[in-house]
Amino acid sequence: MKHKYIADILLLSFISFVFTANASENKSVKDENVSAKIIESDASIAENSVAIEFAKKGKKIYDSYCIRCHGPKMINPGTVTYDLRRFPEDQKTRFMNSVAKGIKQMPPWGNKLSMEEIDLIWQYVLTDGKI
Ligand code: HEC
Repeated sequence: MKHKYIADILLLSFISFVFTANASENKSVKDENVSAKIIESDASIAENSVAIEFAKKGKKIYDSYCIRCHGPKMINPGTVTYDLRRFPEDQKTRFMNSVAKGIKQMPPWGNKLSMEEIDLIWQYVLTDGKI
């Protein structure tokens, strides 16, 4: 009878040991997830502010070269000119090509602007003129 009692105590303490070990393991996994999320959101804030800096540079170039046809803040003046706010965001290559080489009534810009400058205008186009 006494042996049974000791065995029960041993079993109980073993179970509670396993429980606490598991619980603290779960907690540290949770902590890791939280800090991973914080790092992730820091990175995206940094990425966004870099993107906004690029977009602002692009806006300056846009205002010098493109505004007279495509309108202030890309708001289409109601002519045949393409509304850049509607340019598909997944077609960067098309944008780079059309701007550098020209398309139909639009003259080419590749001789006046570098590809880096056209890339900056692209960053501005991605904001839909909202900066
Ligand atoms: C002289 C007027 C004029 C200027 C200045 C101008 N554009 Fe255009 N742009 C147009 C017209 C007109 C179209 C429509 C062309 C067509 O018929 O498809 C157009 C179309 C576009 C398109 C759509 C191309 C496509 O693939 O469909 C993009 C992108 C574009 N312009 C970007 C720019 C950028 C960036 C600048 C400044 C560097 C600029 N444009 C300056 C007149 C102009």
